[in-house]
Amino acid sequence: MYIHPLLPLIPLLIPASATPPPLGLNPIKCPLIFDGRILQNLTLSSFDSAAASPYSPTYVKGQNLTWSQILLLPNPNATTASRFDSSAHRPLEVTVNDASLFRSGAGLQLGFRRAGLLLKGDGNAIGADAADAGVVTFHWSVKQDSVKPLNLSHEYMNVWHEKADYSGNQFAFVGGVVLVVDGGDGVDTEEERNSWKIQDSKNKFIFRTKIEFDQWQNFAVRLDYVASTVQVFYSTGDDFLKAATEILPNDNAGGGQLQLGIAKKPTETETVVWDGYQESMPHGEGQIYGGVFVEDSKDGCISL
Ligand SMILES: *[C@@H]1O[C@H](CO)[C@@H](O)[C@H](O)[C@H]1NC(C)=O
Ligand SMILES: *[C@@H]1O[C@H](CO)[C@@H](O)[C@H](O)[C@H]1NC(C)=O
Ligand SMILES: *[C@@H]1O[C@H](CO)[C@@H](O)[C@H](O)[C@H]1NC(C)=O
Ligand SMILES: *[C@@H]1O[C@H](CO)[C@@H](O)[C@H](O)[C@H]1NC(C)=O
Repeated sequence: MYIHPLLPLIPLLIPASATPPPLGLNPIKCPLIFDGRILQNLTLSSFDSAAASPYSPTYVKGQNLTWSQILLLPNPNATTASRFDSSAHRPLEVTVNDASLFRSGAGLQLGFRRAGLLLKGDGNAIGADAADAGVVTFHWSVKQDSVKPLNLSHEYMNVWHEKADYSGNQFAFVGGVVLVVDGGDGVDTEEERNSWKIQDSKNKFIFRTKIEFDQWQNFAVRLDYVASTVQVFYSTGDDFLKAATEILPNDNAGGGQLQLGIAKKPTETETVVWDGYQESMPHGEGQIYGGVFVEDSKDGCISL
């Protein structure tokens, strides 16, 4: 068996001759725990309603904003579907602007500009839902909006599984210049700006890839709560996901839930949450998502 020299323990998962299935076929192979994919018949107002939205209509967003004001539904005819969306689905765009100020119990979080979707029924407690036990794979795809670009001199935490007591994350998907307090070096270089990173439970960077500005990027993170490990899978466009890290030790304890959207962190900050610099965003910024789902990976099942 061919072994990639940089990934000594990972067998090549897909024969080189295999081609992806045609778009429009459902490539999900394992039992779904949460389906965050967006059916074509949803409208923006669907996201304000617990009955119609796959996500919580309540959290985590600007104090006086509704999800129908925050989200956009890019025309599915203008772009190819993401890897794990079928022809029944469409992409969803999360935006932030100057009003994206979340009021927590402790006050208005002036450091962040944030809008984070929570899968409905994904309870924020230890072991509260089926994605907090066993072996689980979290999937999402992202695409960039050239009309509402991110300002990647900032740190963006866009997908993460946060512990129930908010003391940390089992993993985090971040882009841009990561603050020192979050495990980065805070130095604004072109390479740092234009890269996605995945961090483990200790904020260690376990995967890094450049941000693509003209095609889908597909990510999956498999957490094994029994063996206390994490593994990252990745592809671009409609390619099969491939293992992008080894199976690495990780502290998956603490329960909690997945959040995805945009959490834009400040620069020149001491506390991150309460203070720092955020430039005005007259046109807002957006992150397009597709193919969001969580699957049960027991017995080695994973959708690639
Ligand atoms: C959209 O279609 C699905 C499946 O066909 C249906 O269950 C759902 O109620 C529809 N949602 C809305 C908001 O019309
Ligand atoms: C996408 O194209 C189909 C077929 O031409 C059309 O019926 C549909 O309205 C289009 N959707 C949008 C959102 O423009
Ligand atoms: C939301 O509206 C209330 C009442 O007008 C106001 O006190 C509060 O500051 C607003 N919050 C934000 C984030 O603008
Ligand atoms: C991007 O963010 C940096 C750091 O806060 C800021 O200096 C710069 O003005 C911002 N750029 C734009 C186009 O807003």
